[in-house]
Formats: sequence, C-alpha cells, structure tokens
Amino acid sequence: MNTTVIDAHNISKVYNPKTIPVHAVNEVHLHINKGEFTALVGPSGSGKTTLLNLIGGLDRPDKGNIFINGTDITKLTAGELISFRLHNIGFVFQSFNLIPVLTAKENAEFIMLLQGVKRKERERRMMQLFKDIGLEDKMDVRPEKLSGGQQQRVAIARALASKPQFILADEPTANLDSASASNLLDNMAKLNKEENMTFIFSTHDQRVIERARRVITLVDGKISSDTAVVPTTEIQTGQVTS
Ligand SMILES: Nc1ncnc2c1ncn2[C@@H]1O[C@H](COP(=O)(O)OP(=O)(O)OP(=O)(O)O)[C@@H](O)[C@H]1O
Ligand SMILES: [Mg+2]
Repeated sequence: MNTTVIDAHNISKVYNPKTIPVHAVNEVHLHINKGEFTALVGPSGSGKTTLLNLIGGLDRPDKGNIFINGTDITKLTAGELISFRLHNIGFVFQSFNLIPVLTAKENAEFIMLLQGVKRKERERRMMQLFKDIGLEDKMDVRPEKLSGGQQQRVAIARALASKPQFILADEPTANLDSASASNLLDNMAKLNKEENMTFIFSTHDQRVIERARRVITLVDGKISSDTAVVPTTEIQTGQVTS
C-alpha cells in the first residue's frame, strides 16, 4: 500500500509581488509516496529550489496547502514549523554545509542532539550510518580533511540520522566530480532501497537524472511533465524482474 508523505495542493510562490512579480512556483500540485526516488529537473530559474524550500518548510507559499504526513505545514506558527522540520525533514545542500570545527561524526550527530536523542541511541545510529556510507574510518576527521564527495556523504548521514520522513537534496552533486557524484547516488539509492527512505533531489546532471525512478520537470514554475522511469543501469544489468 502506498503511504503519502507529501501532498502539496495548488501551491504558489511569487517573488517581488509589488514590483516585477516572479511566479517562481505557479499553482503546483505534487504528491509523493513513501519510498520514492524522485528527480526534480528543469532549466535554471524554473523554480526547483523554490519548490524544495516550500516542501521543506524553509519558505512559505503565498497560496495553497502542503501536507506532510497529514500535517498542513502552511498552518503552523514559525516556532511549530522549526520543530516540525527538525523532526520530519532531512536536508542536503549543494555546498554540504558541514560545521568546520566539528568532526564528521559530530556534524552528523548534531541534529540528534537538538532532537534530544540519548547518547547510546546516537552512538548506535552513527555506527550504522557511517558504515552505510562507507566512512567508518573517517568519523573523527574534520570536514577539511574530507573530499567533496565524502563531505556530501556525511551530509546525507546527518540528514538520515534525524530519522526524517523524507530527504530533500538541492543539487547534491553540483560540486562533485563524476566519480563522487556516482558514489553519492549509490549511497542514496542503497538507503532508498534498504531503508525505504524517500528522496527528492533537484539536479541538472543527466547521469543523476538517469538514476531516478520518477522525473518531474518544472518549466516557469509549473510541472510540465511527471514520468515514472526505470533506471537504465538496472536495464543494462538485468535487475528488473517485473
Ligand atoms: N529570493 C528571491 N527573490 C526574488 N526572486 C527570486 C528569489 N529566489 C528565486 N527567485 C526567482 O525565482 C525563480 C525560480 O528560482 P529558483 O532558484 O527556484 O530556480 P531553480 O530552478 O532552482 O534554478 P537553478 O537551476 O539555477 O538552481 C527565478 O526566476 C529566480 O530568479
Ligand atoms: Mg536551484
């Protein structure tokens, strides 16, 4: 049975409404089920970041409703929204956003500290996550000693550690070389498959788009196409059984 995690109804965001209005997101409907692995694509300025920010509660729509696991986040107060985000939504940004003075483990642990997760449980999740991302030997290293790809994997671990309903990633591979980008996608796909974690990522990178199972294209703030796809890598390796 499909479980809805995101249900956005008719959402719009207009920048500069009083001068030269920009309809960054224009009456968008979006339904995402648990376990989806979705790429958000479209030309620069088509509204990908704005849409991700609205769904993630980092910004508010001017119009419409956004239900996350049944809660309409457009109705929450600022304080409630911060708390809701903390407990429900994982973010991965283009620029990694790790805190330089903290180790990889401390960075990934940080949100759990804010959530009040007990030490023993934090340790358990950290061991498992760093194993999953293949960085068990880098837990005590600061970000400056990690490659871009490794930093981004720590950012994924940080997002996952908070046990979110879904992870939003805005161009997560934009600052990575192609080998690191591929490795990051391997990690995301593994977590998607094994933990049924829902991912929505924006990207311009065709190789990243090819890994998605659903591709949503935005043009001028509107969804112009929404397609379910079978990743070509699976067709080539014959992993598709149904
Ligand atoms: N804070 C802002 N103030 C005014 N206009 C904005 C703001 N943020 C975005 N815009 C405009 O909204 C539109 C959508 O921008 P957005 O950043 O969502 O696009 P994008 O698809 O993420 O682009 P890119 O692929 O370059 O990251 C653009 O026309 C942009 O110029
Ligand atoms: Mg963007």
